[in-house]
Amino acid sequence: MGYTLDWDEAAGRLASAAVDDAEWYAAVAAGRLASAAVDDAEWYAAVAAELVRDTDRVAIDVGCGGAGMTVALARRMGPDATVVAADHNRAVLDAARAVTEAAGVRAEFAVVDLDGDLSALPEADLVWSSAAVHHAGDQQRTIERLVALLRPGGTLALAEGGFRPRHLPWDLGVGEPGLEIRLDAAQDRGRPADVGAVARPGRPGLAGAPWRPVLARSSQCATRQAEKEVPLTLISLPGCKFVCTP
Ligand SMILES: C[S@@+](CC[C@H](N)C(=O)[O-])C[C@H]1O[C@@H](n2cnc3c(N)ncnc32)[C@H](O)[C@@H]1O
Repeated sequence: MGYTLDWDEAAGRLASAAVDDAEWYAAVAAGRLASAAVDDAEWYAAVAAELVRDTDRVAIDVGCGGAGMTVALARRMGPDATVVAADHNRAVLDAARAVTEAAGVRAEFAVVDLDGDLSALPEADLVWSSAAVHHAGDQQRTIERLVALLRPGGTLALAEGGFRPRHLPWDLGVGEPGLEIRLDAAQDRGRPADVGAVARPGRPGLAGAPWRPVLARSSQCATRQAEKEVPLTLISLPGCKFVCTP
């Protein structure tokens, strides 16, 4: 006989477990984020090399997790620069501090909530945020507030998911190569080409809107979008949208 799960009944238990065990979850997450920061160091370094301009003096890594990008920014910008690692979770920030110390770089740390007050953060030449904005209650508003941190000519670089996982090899050895892409294209017909933002049913903001227009709305300036392979150790996303507002 099959077992039927009563989700209405389970919802209350899951919600209270999430609250009761929040510290445990935070500790586990902090450990995972910290090891991903080290494992993916090469990727962060390549992205930092692409983003940082020689004149940049202040950078912020918002929703820093294990501080992989904080370390990469600090290395790229040098000891005279100010690099701030910001996160709302103190356990995550403790792990981030340990990662930066082990890497031998100088960084500052700030407890900030993307949905709350960002005034603890300085004006910056570069604001980087990876896989964090989608956690915000109002993603559009969050992006506007991140843009507001920028110095004139500054850059907001947002890395978020949006591409589908790929399961098949490019060439199956049967028929024309690229079957999976053609299947995706068939499924997406009639939708915008750069669908990407994380849908948050019932939350204000984007509900599945593409990231690029969202950024353009927030910053009133041109956006650039590039595809980047993202390592799989941390987030189970095969690809990443990497969007800058110069
Ligand atoms: C998936 S991790 C990404 C970590 C890191 N940026 C990376 O790409 O490796 C999401 C991070 O965002 C942080 N975060 C989630 N919600 C947040 C909020 N409302 N305000 C600030 N940080 C938040 C989490 O604590 C976590 O460190």
